Amino acid sequence: MSQQTDALPSRPHLTLEYKIGEKDFMVAGEAASKTKMALQQLGLQRDVVKNVAIIVYEAGMNIVIHAQHGHIKVVIAPEQVVVLTEDVGQGIPDIELAMQEGYSTAPPEIREMGFGAGMGLSNIKKCSDEFIIESQPGVGTVLKARLYLDRTKRAA
Ligand SMILES: Nc1ncnc2c1ncn2[C@@H]1O[C@H](COP(=O)(O)OP(=O)(O)OP(=O)(O)O)[C@@H](O)[C@H]1O
Ligand SMILES: [Mg+2]
Repeated sequence: MSQQTDALPSRPHLTLEYKIGEKDFMVAGEAASKTKMALQQLGLQRDVVKNVAIIVYEAGMNIVIHAQHGHIKVVIAPEQVVVLTEDVGQGIPDIELAMQEGYSTAPPEIREMGFGAGMGLSNIKKCSDEFIIESQPGVGTVLKARLYLDRTKRAA
């Protein structure tokens, strides 16, 4: 993990926090729309607002579906937005496998609800300039996604 990615912005403008409870299927969508509104009010560029909302939604749904409980933090600084999630849960034994499009361990009842396409993590990565996921099986998962507001630093 690079020092730069690990560090949170030193002088944040605003921090949003959401608690994710067990089987709370509404909370990820609510967190995503609240984040979207806050970022729009701050006048952030459209693509950043859209991408941060997607990250919050997908990471939040993963906590609801695959973990027990956790929280999401969105740190908005003048030059970047960082989405940080932490959960307590079963964790991910093989992150490389979990990152593959189409890989999912979602059970049938979750698939019936329309989730479990195995696209969430790869989508989060696509929406981020920097992305880190770390997990300890049987303990939980930590995810960090960073988006630069300065286009010259944005990933292609
Ligand atoms: N927070 C988490 N805790 C434990 N396992 C996770 C977590 N997030 C992802 N995973 C594991 O990684 C797999 C892939 O996640 P991903 O978000 O890409 O797909 P999905 O959640 O299964 O389906 P989709 O996101 O398309 O509805 C999951 O099926 C699960 O096995
Ligand atoms: Mg998912």
